[in-house]
Amino acid sequence: MSKVFKILILPGDGIGPEVMAEVSKLMQAVEKSSGVKFETTFDDIGGAAYERYGSPLDKTTLDTAKQSHAVLLGAVGGEKWDNLEFSLKPEQGLLRIRKELELFANLRPAMCFESMVDASSLKPELVAGLDIMIVRELTGGIYFGNPRGIETLADGTRQGVNTQTYNTKEIQRVARVAFELARKRDNRVVSCEKSNVMESGILWREEVTAIHNNEYKDVELAHMYADNCAMQLVRNPKQFDVIVTDNLFGDILSDEASMLTGSLGMLPSASLGEIDENNFRKALYEPVHGSAPDIAGQGIANPIACILSFAMCLKYSFEMNDQAEKISQAVNDVLAAGHRTKDLIGNSEINLSTQEMGDKIIDTFIKLG
Ligand code: IPM
Ligand code: MG
Repeated sequence: MSKVFKILILPGDGIGPEVMAEVSKLMQAVEKSSGVKFETTFDDIGGAAYERYGSPLDKTTLDTAKQSHAVLLGAVGGEKWDNLEFSLKPEQGLLRIRKELELFANLRPAMCFESMVDASSLKPELVAGLDIMIVRELTGGIYFGNPRGIETLADGTRQGVNTQTYNTKEIQRVARVAFELARKRDNRVVSCEKSNVMESGILWREEVTAIHNNEYKDVELAHMYADNCAMQLVRNPKQFDVIVTDNLFGDILSDEASMLTGSLGMLPSASLGEIDENNFRKALYEPVHGSAPDIAGQGIANPIACILSFAMCLKYSFEMNDQAEKISQAVNDVLAAGHRTKDLIGNSEINLSTQEMGDKIIDTFIKLG
């Protein structure tokens, strides 16, 4: 009997469905090559879910997600839904699925493929061989803290409120994920916060230090203020191995890191929960890029981030490292042959459509055997 993995696919909005279509094709190739079976269910999230269910994340969708081995997500958001009441906005669907599945650790690798060195806005020598892993806390901090809202004060002035909170448990569990990952890489962690101005940052630094002292003495740990980290990422990005940081700083630093690799269209991510008693961990995989409404529907979006997110799924959820490696290799080979989608500015590029790029990667994947 071959293994069967249940996967919920949520293409979402904008370019989400376009890039996810390429992943669906790739899944079939992986099935053939590995003998496993993917049992896929498709559903909506974000604006598409609002249109269908009147909510950016329907309860039935969430139930299916909870019963799946993994969730693959495209992107959410678009102008059309900008004026909806806050709780109905597409982004709320994404935040809710992360929170409800307790996907507290968001892994965002920033790797520079050899053939993409020239596409970075930084000098080639700064990014060649770059391999950073950003671990972003994903279910806490200012994204979820209370009180929050927009209130009107006695004098009629309006005031927007959001609250940053972190407790020991939230910091400890994400720190452990970062240290564990570091042990399998270059064994170095930089923890980022703003402990110079925020109490939550002070606690963050204390807890990360304590976990390090008690459990991970063998890993090298350094602390950095988040603003300094933003600067260091463009000054000398190769100084980093694993960066662990909170939800908001992680959102910003990972967008910044993505441009080191040439395009936001290249960066995958994995959002992981706690490992349960059956050694199972809930997980959702999505590209770091958004729904890119400006190019949606034109067939020019880069499917690589979504394809690499599926590769992360194979690695982190299904222990299919060989297949994951092969996808990565196929992407590298296709890029090395000079193939580019429009977002990747190279010298000798032939601009491929989303579908053509997907096909090239799948063909190469199949040829790798
Ligand atoms: C991301 C995105 C999301 C976030 C948005 C779309 C809610 O920017 O995944 O980085 O802020 O987390
Ligand atoms: Mg972001």
